[in-house]
Amino acid sequence: MTDAANSEHTFAPSRDFVNQANVNDPGVYDEAERDPEAWWESHARQLRWTREWDTTLEWDPPYAKWFLGGTLNVSDNCLDRHVEDGYGDKVAFHWEGEPGDTRTVTYAELLSEVSTFANALKGLGVSKGDPVTIYLPMVPELPVAMLACARIGAPHSVVFAGFSAQSVVDRVEDANSKVLITADGSYRKGNIVPLKESADKAMQGTDKIEHCVVVKRTGEDVAFTEGRDVWYHDLLDGADDDCPPEEMDAEDTLFLLYSSGTTGKPKGIQHTTGGYLTQAAVTHRLVFDLKPDTDVYWCAADIGWITGHTYIVYGPLANRATSVMYEGAPDHPDKDRLWEIAEKYGVTILYTAPTAIRAFMKWGPEYVERHDLSTLRLLGSVGEPINPEAWLWYHEHIGGGNCPIVDTWWQTETGGIMITPLPGMTETKPGAAMRPFPGIKPVVVDDEGNPVERGESGLLTLARPWPGMLRTLWNDDERYVQTYWARFGKAIYFAGDGARLDEDGDIWLLGRVDDVMNVSGHRLSTAEIESALVSHDAVAEAAVVGRSDAQTGQAVSAFVTLLSGQHSSDELRRQLREHVAERIGKLARPAELMFTDDLPKTRSGKIMRRLLRDIAEGNEIGDVTTLANPTIVKQIQQEAQTARSS
Ligand code: PRX
Repeated sequence: MTDAANSEHTFAPSRDFVNQANVNDPGVYDEAERDPEAWWESHARQLRWTREWDTTLEWDPPYAKWFLGGTLNVSDNCLDRHVEDGYGDKVAFHWEGEPGDTRTVTYAELLSEVSTFANALKGLGVSKGDPVTIYLPMVPELPVAMLACARIGAPHSVVFAGFSAQSVVDRVEDANSKVLITADGSYRKGNIVPLKESADKAMQGTDKIEHCVVVKRTGEDVAFTEGRDVWYHDLLDGADDDCPPEEMDAEDTLFLLYSSGTTGKPKGIQHTTGGYLTQAAVTHRLVFDLKPDTDVYWCAADIGWITGHTYIVYGPLANRATSVMYEGAPDHPDKDRLWEIAEKYGVTILYTAPTAIRAFMKWGPEYVERHDLSTLRLLGSVGEPINPEAWLWYHEHIGGGNCPIVDTWWQTETGGIMITPLPGMTETKPGAAMRPFPGIKPVVVDDEGNPVERGESGLLTLARPWPGMLRTLWNDDERYVQTYWARFGKAIYFAGDGARLDEDGDIWLLGRVDDVMNVSGHRLSTAEIESALVSHDAVAEAAVVGRSDAQTGQAVSAFVTLLSGQHSSDELRRQLREHVAERIGKLARPAELMFTDDLPKTRSGKIMRRLLRDIAEGNEIGDVTTLANPTIVKQIQQEAQTARSS
């Protein structure tokens, strides 16, 4: 990969694009800077409130409250409002299953199903404030379940369907959920993923779940536990479709979403109602230049991640968008599946991740060329730094050379997009996220917290609260403060990313600076994988690092020492990799796993992960004589070399 920050060429939007853009006046930046609260307020006003707020922002660092005293309901804003305005027949989702089956869901249908399911949830004893865990694949019932929770004020906690049973247990226990919503299975790469089996395994690991609602997706036989399990369609049959939305305070919790941190335990990132929806809606409208009456918008992420929460469900529905939603793999039945779908529905806006773009590059442009993608007018990227080659390929082969690209930096914690071009006015540079969204104040600082000069790199911080920010970690204020607000003081949010300001003051993201890895745009914690490895009977100690990978951005490299009496073998290696997949999910399975007699440690006993990272990368390593056990390094290097070449 070339050095991103050396890329000189800029891309200006075409005159036609500028003229029709939702925002094309650079004055918005100044306007928002002059009075950020008034800027956010003007966008909050575009939502339907049942009671206007008294205070726009109460900032008691590091705790923010937005639109205090205001009340609204997210499901009302995403559904009822549009149906009442006469858009009931407008398509909310063109859904496509992997085997090729399709469903078209209008706003009126969505409202009816959400209301009915909301009543069904009430019937199961769910009331305002009760967290509901949702473990569903990419089927229409997933947004329905989220919106039904929002309608009755029950925070949802969505667990990505690729996560393991153990991940469900951890999240159910932490959130204290009584209800789990899952499916009999789903389709992925032509196979059936037996989700109910994982859910059953999870429910053996926790006794918290009183009711398990099962969506029928595949029709395969699944085990049913009498009294606990109930079919989704049976519940709908017995429920009324009139469910007035619960009036929620702006600061009531809308959802929890667990994300990997620097320790083994996932963090329950907590988002609230008014501020989150305001930021979701305005960023979606301005960054994607959404025209609700003409655009067909497709965010090709999974709803199990924050990208899907904000930019498949809440932002687009609040803006009355018509979206595409796809269940399966991008290469099934062939590597042109996404382009076939894009052509079929006339997709105009596409939002995906660099790792996907690099896969498309590898497969070759011929798959794209099979289809007419001329309806596309805007492309987005998210999840990891996009290397200039991937940016340029995306621009040329998917965008036909004339679609602006918005490279959007944000996090589960930020709730919505934070650093991004605005497509009607920003001259973009391949690989740069460019500028803060109006009202956002990123500051790149050095280790002491001093802002760096143009042309320098440092750590990314956010120096001003924003409406979509996480409010805390579920039941763990202390960890909230420690993780984000300790390094540079209580009023400065530490994002955990490195960043560079170029000579023009534009921002380039450089990847994580902590023990969080980014594999195919998915966040993984080294500590979490280490504890999964150590939980295996044969393992004494483990260290995990992320090394760079041309395809997935980073890949998991694991170093393992065995308990005495245990012997390394290919079979044990296979078992350990599977063990990680079982404990966390397949995406956490180490790309390579090396057995070593010891791990390199400092004299105070700390594992030298930085050294292991260099070894995994195949880099030169410096002086190791200060280690407690310098002789081990040679052995580990040899192991790593063998692993790399195999
Ligand atoms: O390292 C940054 C990277 O993804 C992290 C956040 O991961 P997650 O909470 O899973 O949310 C991903 C989708 C919003 C960040 O700390 N990241 C996300 N977007 C970008 C990025 N890195 C560089 N450029 C981006 N556009």
